Amino acid sequence: MAITVSENGRLFTLHTKNSSYQMFADPFGTLLHLYYGKRMDGENLSDLILRTDMGFCGNPPQAGADRTYSLDYLPQEAPSSGVGDYREDFVRITHADGSCAAQFLFESFQVTDGSYPIPGMPALYDTAGETGQTLTITLKEACSGVRLQLFYGIFEQADIITRALRVENAGKSPVVLEKALSMSMDIPFGNHDMLCFTGRHAMERTVERVPVGRAAVQIGSTRGTSSHQYNPSMILLSPTATEDAGDCYGFCLVYSGNFTASAQKDQREQTRVQMGIHPDRFSFRLAPGKSFSTPQVIMSYSSCGLTALSQNYHHILREHMCRGVWKHERRPVLINNWEATYFDFNREKLLSIASQAAELGIEMLVLDDGWFGKRDDDNSGLGDWFVNTDKLGGSLCALSDDIHRMGMKFGLWFEPEMISEDSDLYRAHPDWALQIPGREPNRGRNQLVLDMANPQVRDYLLERLTDILSGARIDYVKWDMNRSICDAYSSYLGPQRTGEVCHRYVLGVYDLMERFLARFPDVLLEGCSGGGGRFDAAMLYYSPQIWCSDNTDAINRLSIQYGTSFFYPISAVGSHVSACPNHQTGRSVPFRTRGDVAMAGSFGYELDLNQVSEQEKEEVTKQVSDFLHFYPLTHEGDYYRLTAPGKAPFMAWEFVDQNRDRAMLTLVQTESCGNPLPIHTDIRGLDPEKKYRCLSNGAVRSGASWMGAGFTPDHILKQYESLVVEFVRES
Ligand code: GLA
Repeated sequence: MAITVSENGRLFTLHTKNSSYQMFADPFGTLLHLYYGKRMDGENLSDLILRTDMGFCGNPPQAGADRTYSLDYLPQEAPSSGVGDYREDFVRITHADGSCAAQFLFESFQVTDGSYPIPGMPALYDTAGETGQTLTITLKEACSGVRLQLFYGIFEQADIITRALRVENAGKSPVVLEKALSMSMDIPFGNHDMLCFTGRHAMERTVERVPVGRAAVQIGSTRGTSSHQYNPSMILLSPTATEDAGDCYGFCLVYSGNFTASAQKDQREQTRVQMGIHPDRFSFRLAPGKSFSTPQVIMSYSSCGLTALSQNYHHILREHMCRGVWKHERRPVLINNWEATYFDFNREKLLSIASQAAELGIEMLVLDDGWFGKRDDDNSGLGDWFVNTDKLGGSLCALSDDIHRMGMKFGLWFEPEMISEDSDLYRAHPDWALQIPGREPNRGRNQLVLDMANPQVRDYLLERLTDILSGARIDYVKWDMNRSICDAYSSYLGPQRTGEVCHRYVLGVYDLMERFLARFPDVLLEGCSGGGGRFDAAMLYYSPQIWCSDNTDAINRLSIQYGTSFFYPISAVGSHVSACPNHQTGRSVPFRTRGDVAMAGSFGYELDLNQVSEQEKEEVTKQVSDFLHFYPLTHEGDYYRLTAPGKAPFMAWEFVDQNRDRAMLTLVQTESCGNPLPIHTDIRGLDPEKKYRCLSNGAVRSGASWMGAGFTPDHILKQYESLVVEFVRES
C-alpha cells in the first residue's frame, strides 16, 4: 500500500518504491511532520519528538498548563500564523475583524485512487503506466471556519510525492488570504545544503550550492514569470552528497509565476522547507464558500545522490506532465531564422534557407519574429497578429505551402501575451495593458504586458491565433514572452483585487494555452521567454520543449544545460547550432562541437545556411543523421552528468537507453594548456554483467569494467573540441 493510516486515523505514512514520508495528527490536532527519507515500514516515529519547556516558546490554549507543548518548535506540515510559531508561516489570513491569525487543526482525512487535479493549473496526471494515489488531509482553522485541504499525491514506482493546498472559506465572513504556500515541511534533524538554479537572461540556471543554517536561504521571483534569475526548483542535500551518493530531496514547483522557495534552520536546528506562490503583492479575497487552490510541488527523495534524483524528475515530467501527440512523437529537426536574419528577411531569403535546409535533412523551418503587423524591429506591432503580406511577398498560406512542397514542416513565432504601444491593438484597447492609472508604466523591450486576467483579451488572442493557424499550414508554434511583469494593475479586476493580478495572469496564460491546444492538438508548441525565462514544470504541460536560452554559445550552453538537467528532461531542452563567432559571446567553437552540445536537447539550427561552407554543410547532414540515430537515448533514455562546470578541463555526460543496450558519451574540452594531459571520465549506467563494445576504439569490456575503469579518448582534444562515443551491448 502506498498510503497507510493507523487504526486511530491519525498516523499517515506514504510509501514510494524507495522513500517513506510520515505525519501524525497529535492529540491537540496539530499535524506534525515525522519523517521523509529512505523507505521504512510504517512504524510510528513520533517518539523522535522530544517535548521540552523552551523559554520564549509560548503554548497554545489547547495545551493548557503544559509548557512543553509549543507550536514554536514542533515540526509541522501546516504551520500556524501569528499564534505562536515565529518561524515562516504557511497560510496567512486576515479576518473580517482585521486580525491576522490562523491555527490549523486536524479534522479528517481521505484516501483516494488516482492523482488529484488542480483547477485551472497543470498537475501530474495518471497514465496507463502508473496511476497515482491521493491522501487528502483536512484541517480546520481554530476560529474562523476556514478549511485547508492538504493534498499528498503518490506515484509509488516513480518515487514521487506531490503536495498542494486548497483553502476554503467555510466560515460566515469574508477573509483575505495574504499568503498560501503549496508546501511546508520541517525536517527534524540533520544538516543540509541547498542547490538552487540562478542566473540572468542568456545565462540561466547556474548551479549554486549553499549551506542551510539559521540564516534563511530563500530564492524566488516577483517578476510575474518563473524567471531567468531563479528557477522554481531546489534540492536539499546532505553536505557530503554527490551525483552517486547521499541524501537528496528535490522540490519542483509546477507554476509559471511569482514563487518563493526557502530553507532555514530554526532554534532547535530543524530545517523548515517551503515552496509556493510568492506572498509579495499577493492577496486573495475569499468570500464565504469560495476557495483558492495553490500550484503543486513535486517532491522526490534519493538516498543515492543527485543522478537518481534527476532521473526521477526526468521520468515523471516526461511521462506524467508532458501531454499530447508530441509527448512521444519524434520531434522534427528544425531551422529557425532568428539568428540568421533577425527582422531583416523576405520571402526569397526564407525560401533559400528552407531549400538549403531541406537538402541537408532538416525537417522544419521556423519563421521567428517579424512576420506580422508593423514589425521591422522590436519597438512596435505586438498585438497586431495579422500577416504582413508585403514583407512575406504574399500570403502566409502560400509561404507555408512552398515550405511543405520542399518536404518540410513549417513553424511560426508568436508572443501572444504582449502589446506594443505602437500597435493598432493598443490604440484600440489601452486598458488591455497592465498599467497603473495615473502612472507611466515601466517598459521592457519597449513593450507592455497584456492583462491575461481579462477574458476579453484571451478571447481576442485565441481568435487571432486561430485565424492565423487556420489560414496556413502551421505545424509548430514558438510561444514567446519577452519581459518581466510590473505595474501589475488590471483595469478589468479593478482596485479591490490588485493582489490577485499576478496569479490570475498565470491562470489566464494556462487557460489560453489550453484552449489553443484543444483547437490545434497536433501543433507542437515550444515554450520560450527570452530563452529560458519560463522554463518550468507547468509549461511542460503545454509545450513539451522549451527554448532553453537565448545564449547559443556551445560552451556557455554546457553549464546552462547542465543546470537545466537537474529537474527537466533532456527532451524538453530546445538547443540549436548557431553561427560563429557566436552572436552572444563572440566565441568561435568548432561546428561539430556545436552540434554535439545541441544534440543533448530538442535539436535544431539557427543560422543562415547560405553562409556556411560546403564542409559545414556535410557536417549538418551528419549531425542530423547522428541526432536521429541517438534520438531514443537522448529523448527517452537515462541521463548522467559526469562532470560539473569548472571542476575539470572538460565536460562529459552520458545517455543510456532504457534497455541498457546502448550508451552515448559526449566529451567537450573546455580548457587547454601546454603539454596537455589525457582526460579520463567515468562511465555510468551500464549493466555490469553484460559486455559492451566501444565503437570509437573497438574495445570490448564488461559493463562492470567500463564503469570501474572509465574511459580515456585515444587522442588529446584541443580546446572546444568534442567527442561522441557510442557503447553497444555485445551479449
Ligand atoms: C526572444 C526569443 C528569441 C527570439 C526573439 C524574437 O528573445 O528568445 O529566440 O524569438 O525573442 O524577438
